[in-house]
Formats: sequence, structure tokens, C-alpha cells
Amino acid sequence: MTRNPVTNLDSRKILIAPSILAANFAELGNEIARVEKAGADLIHVDIMDGHFVPNLTIGPPVVQALRNITKLPFDVHLMLTNPKSFVKPFADAGADSITFHVECSDNIEDTIREIRSFGCSAGLSLKPKTPADKLIPYLDKIDLVLVMTVEPGFGGQSFMSDMMPKTRAIRDAIIKLDRKIHLEVDGGIDGKSIFVVAEAGANMIVAGTSVFRAPEGAAEAIRKLKSAQDKLR
Ligand code: DX5
Ligand code: ZN
Repeated sequence: MTRNPVTNLDSRKILIAPSILAANFAELGNEIARVEKAGADLIHVDIMDGHFVPNLTIGPPVVQALRNITKLPFDVHLMLTNPKSFVKPFADAGADSITFHVECSDNIEDTIREIRSFGCSAGLSLKPKTPADKLIPYLDKIDLVLVMTVEPGFGGQSFMSDMMPKTRAIRDAIIKLDRKIHLEVDGGIDGKSIFVVAEAGANMIVAGTSVFRAPEGAAEAIRKLKSAQDKLR
């Protein structure tokens, strides 16, 4: 399978990853085509197990069914207690990057290795209450950091601006390391919160509600989000 790793994308550019959690699930294929046409850079796919987070979403068969709808990379976010055994099914289904949580129960380095063994980019995520120093030791082994700006589990929640010092600390650590690692933020990001998020150093922007349900249309919503480019430091 040809992968489209995030290392092919510029980590100093604002990239928009619409979360399909906010899409019309009865029209998922058309919804993905719609945001691709509107200027999305990746498609964010939220996977929940009803244990790590109190919600369920979709599994590998749905990801596989959507794989041929778009050329955009699939940015798969595993909110699972035991992500390691699900790496292969999602890689086989067409994931390009696979991100899991430092708070999971599996061995982190083993899981990163498992992700890499399929040629996927590897990401690590932090829940709001988890400090940056839990993730920093793995920074030289991953391609992507995902800072949650809401409690994971549901779309449509309010952005937590108090996650910005942590976001900044991680961007500073990435700069110090001098590796091209993407810094992704996820939860409640819209045309307003994007400016503080970019200022804190996040370049990969998950946006569910604010893109899929934008009254002004997805293209205008994405244009607005990308207009924060000059704030990115
Ligand atoms: C929450 C998910 C998010 C969520 C984002 O657990 O990880 O990706 O769907 O949706 P919005 O942008 O609506 O907050
Ligand atoms: Zn997510």
C-alpha cells in the first residue's frame, strides 16, 4: 500500500484536518469529498473504544470503505486503552498516520514500532490533564504530537485555552530537538480559537464542527483557519 506520511507535509504550515465525527454519517463519502474540495489537507478519523473514552465511533471496515474516496492522508486518532493490537487493522484499512495516547495501557515504544512497521507516521497524544513531560521523552521517536484541547470522547465541545502553555512548551521542545514534528491540536477549534492556537505553535489543526457544520461553508471556514498562518511561531 502506498502511504502518504505526514513527513511529506510542511510542519511549519497550517494544515487543516477536518474530523469526520462532525460529518453527516449517512453521507460520509460525499462529506469527505466536500471538505477535500474545500481545501482540507488531511482527514481526521476519531476511533473510540467505549473504555478509554465513554463513546464509540467506527472501526477499520469504515476506514477501508472510505479509502478510495479521497487522496488526502487519513490521520487516525486512536482513543483506545489497548491501541497496539489495532494498529495493523487500521494500517491495512489505509491509515497514513496513527496517533495513540500516552495514557493508554500498552507499551508506548512497542506501539510506535508497530505503527512504523507498516510505514505509517507515528503520533502521540495527551489528554488535557496529562502534562507535557509525559510525552517529551518520546519526541525523538514520533512524527506528530496531538494536544487535546477538550476531554476526548465527543465532538462539539468548548476549546480549553488553558492548554496553550503546554502546546507552547511542546513546540519549544520540538524546535530544540530540530526535528520536523507536526504539532496538532484537537477539540473546539474554530475561526476564533485558531489564532491563540497558532501563536502557541500548533500547525496541524483538527476541526470538526467548525468545518463540517460551518454556516458559511467549508471552504470559507478552512480559509479562515489558514489565515492564522502568520501567527504561527
Ligand atoms: C474528540 C475528538 C475530536 C473531535 C473534534 O475526542 O478527538 O477530533 O471530533 O471535534 P470538534 O472540532 O467539533 O471539537
Ligand atoms: Zn481526534
